[in-house]
Amino acid sequence: MKKISFFLMSCLFIVSCQDETNNFTQLASGYELYQKNCANCHGDDGLGLAKLIPPLKNADYLLSHKDSLKSIIHKGIQVPIVVNGITYTSPMPAMPKISASEAESIIQFILIKFNQTSNK
Ligand code: HEC
Repeated sequence: MKKISFFLMSCLFIVSCQDETNNFTQLASGYELYQKNCANCHGDDGLGLAKLIPPLKNADYLLSHKDSLKSIIHKGIQVPIVVNGITYTSPMPAMPKISASEAESIIQFILIKFNQTSNK
């Protein structure tokens, strides 16, 4: 009996460690993908650029559009939007080459690092 419970505990431990590793890997690749595809405009710290590019850090628009973030990455935004009280009118380009799982990693990175939240 003892052996079995030790075995079960080990399994649980390994499974929970794998989960942590997966989250960590996703965050690390999210960071790299963000640097490559988004930081040019939105900045390393997600602060945006004056009244031209909206912030992703503590951004009310982003938090109220959590479910559309993947589609924003893939299709861009072609209409004016209001972020934290400021109206932005430059369009954001569509990025259809970013895969669904890459987009998911970028989104996790932005939510966790810039907004202290996640979509899980
Ligand atoms: C060429 C510059 C550019 C790039 C590259 C870019 N964006 Fe944007 N992004 C913008 C602009 C400009 C807006 C505002 C669009 C508008 O007002 O119509 C915007 C808006 C947004 C918004 C909604 C507004 C907000 O602040 O919450 C999100 C979310 C967003 N971008 C995420 C991303 C992500 C993620 C990437 C990388 C995959 C990215 N953007 C790459 C320029 C860019």
